[in-house]
Amino acid sequence: MRQKLALVVGARPNFMKAAPLMQDLRRFPDIFDPILVHTGQHYDHRLSQLFFDELKMSRPDIYLGIGSGTHAEQTGQIMIELEKVFLSSPPDLVVVFGDVNSTLAAAVVAAKLCLKLAHVEAGLRSFDSAMPEEINRIVTDRLADFLFVSERSGLVNLAREGIPNEKIFFTGNIMIDSLIKNLEVARKSDILERLKLNPRTYITMTMHRPANVDNRDALAGIMDGITRVSRRMPVIFPCHPRTKKMIDEFRLPIRGDGDALRIINPLGYLEFLKLQSESKFVLTDSGGIQEETTFLGIPCITMRENTERPATVEIGSNVISGTDPEKITRSANAIIEGSIRTGSIPELWDGHTAERIVAVLLEKLTGATATGIPAGSCKKD
Ligand code: UD1
Repeated sequence: MRQKLALVVGARPNFMKAAPLMQDLRRFPDIFDPILVHTGQHYDHRLSQLFFDELKMSRPDIYLGIGSGTHAEQTGQIMIELEKVFLSSPPDLVVVFGDVNSTLAAAVVAAKLCLKLAHVEAGLRSFDSAMPEEINRIVTDRLADFLFVSERSGLVNLAREGIPNEKIFFTGNIMIDSLIKNLEVARKSDILERLKLNPRTYITMTMHRPANVDNRDALAGIMDGITRVSRRMPVIFPCHPRTKKMIDEFRLPIRGDGDALRIINPLGYLEFLKLQSESKFVLTDSGGIQEETTFLGIPCITMRENTERPATVEIGSNVISGTDPEKITRSANAIIEGSIRTGSIPELWDGHTAERIVAVLLEKLTGATATGIPAGSCKKD
């Protein structure tokens, strides 16, 4: 009997994690029947469809069209619609990715219907329960039957929370699979020419965390710091719709159309990869970008008080600056003046994570073994 797997995605950072797994599952058409369910949490073309096109992902088999709302509205609506889907045709395994509201919603629905659940990117912890993502991670990990861990800190966190060892698999960082697969094509993007930029002469910035953008003083403070940084080196800021909305709502006097600070629309996956890989450094509050810059060896200043991805700081090129404008400016100036933090690439961020996950699923769901899985797979220690 083929195993029916429902991969549930919803928001931008899910798509590049699901794409390589879907591709690898399709290598075993007699064993796996994977379907893609898109909750519609992200619905703007630039946050959703563009990524499907660039990652060459087939259209979702099921689109729930949930969209935006409060946390309870969004999570609740996804749960209601997903339950109908799973009741009408129960999958053998539900696979969720990362830490967004779609991840949590799908995990709860799967667990309550007694469906097996796999969490890709398990074990990450910021220890900051004011972050919605932290709640999503903790609950999802507690409910999952298969926890696929991206960096060693995840193993420690899950052990501390009492998750049984036999559920935990250290398979590496699946987002790096996508990055490695797409880097060559991304390098051909003409985004630098279009923005009239030369490599290493500009800073790439992203910011969308509620803690940074939903509060007027916090947002104004950070933007003040960024404006100061931009006087020394141009800042290119592809702006998330949430941030754009808050800048407008607070009527912040930010001029983002000059040469110094350029606020532009969100970019696609390939263009953004090119932009960040050629920049002097990156300023961000994203989780995934801390990992991508670590892999690319590009210095990263993370405008948060903590990170759930400590490997990027311990062995990567990431620095946690906090959100104080003085500290952001100081960290940025240090890099502009030549103090670069070089790092190395964490273990199992090697482009083979999806293969390792599929090998585990083959063995655990069917008793079969995969051939050609790279050595050092699925470390349990
Ligand atoms: C979500 C994730 C966050 C992830 C981010 C990546 C949660 C709790 N948060 O945050 O972890 O880093 O995605 O982008 O799941 N909006 C649009 N168009 C869209 C989607 C959203 O305009 O396609 C606007 C809406 O005004 C919406 C706001 O952005 O209210 C926030 O969207 P939402 O999905 O709730 O959270 P993100 O901030 O995108």
